[in-house]
Amino acid sequence: MFTPDDHRRLAAKSLEVITGNQAESGAYPACPTYEVYGYSWFRDGSFIAEAASRVGAPASATAFHDWCARAVTDRAARIEALVAAIGRGERPAEAEYLPTRYTLAGEDTGDVGWWDFQTDGYGTWLWALATHLDRHGLDPEPYRETVRLVVDYLTATWDIPCYDWWEESKEQRHGATLGSIHGGLSAAVRAGLADPTAVFRTTAAIEETVADQGMSAGHLAKWLGSDAVDASLLACLTPFGSVDPQGEVASRTVAAIERDLVEPEGGVHRYLKDVFYGGGQWPVLAGFLGWHYARTGREADARRELDWIASHATDGLLLPEQAPGVRLLAPDHLQRWIDRWGPNATPLLWSHAMYLILADELGVLA
Ligand code: BGC
Repeated sequence: MFTPDDHRRLAAKSLEVITGNQAESGAYPACPTYEVYGYSWFRDGSFIAEAASRVGAPASATAFHDWCARAVTDRAARIEALVAAIGRGERPAEAEYLPTRYTLAGEDTGDVGWWDFQTDGYGTWLWALATHLDRHGLDPEPYRETVRLVVDYLTATWDIPCYDWWEESKEQRHGATLGSIHGGLSAAVRAGLADPTAVFRTTAAIEETVADQGMSAGHLAKWLGSDAVDASLLACLTPFGSVDPQGEVASRTVAAIERDLVEPEGGVHRYLKDVFYGGGQWPVLAGFLGWHYARTGREADARRELDWIASHATDGLLLPEQAPGVRLLAPDHLQRWIDRWGPNATPLLWSHAMYLILADELGVLA
């Protein structure tokens, strides 16, 4: 059991890891010490900024959002061309879409041989930006043009198959991707930054598509037509609310994830067939599960996930991408990833962020 002081220490370190590694440009690297994670992702960064926004570093969050806004407006012509091409019924080549990760200076990474076309991060960014502006009473106007570009991009691309949260299975349309886009578009409308009529056409289409093809046994499915779950679906409930977090679909989704992916002592796997570093448990996902528990009155379960994350901090209070080597779904695959890229990424800024969000949600930092 971790004491309030233990949590306050880990929280202070977490914030230091986040702000200390933020580039002058405002970008957050995914992990400063892991060879291929020196880039900044909209997906990771949006949740990292949400943590900073909540726990006393709003200027850090604003700097990240401004960096994102520059990355988008620098590519305005590319976005307009993509939207027009899709409008004419064309299907652009994968490399033409917006990147999923950027250099810290906001440039495309060039061809690093890594899967790039993923739309979820742009939805997540709209959600994080709107949440940050609302929380701190900041003026949304400077972001209006950027948000318009992102809304147009998502409205044009939402139903095109792309890589998922884990940068896999590009031939599918993923439940968590659709939920991230739905959450982001809805948040942009709430912030007064997007035209409700245009956006609602897309959010309604997403809802209809998910209801028709994205459900199995009453729960959300990993991708359209699948009967499996993926723990990234938790974000559709909390924080995105693309399905009612208190409703029947949400409780069945949580129950299926608990049945397949949650370990009794805490910790959450990504999906049953995961082999990356042997398919361990992710602090990031323990954070999402705990956040949802906290929001739905399951405080003790939320606290279990918080303690579980804390129990996987290193002696130097750094949080990894995966809890190292315990409860693996595919132990035979662990060594090949270590041989390829070394031990799993530590510190992962997104893990620190989800820890902070959950600690804040539970009020343990007060
Ligand atoms: C994960 C992504 C994440 C990226 C950077 C990948 O291994 O699958 O979700 O955005 O690492 O942290």
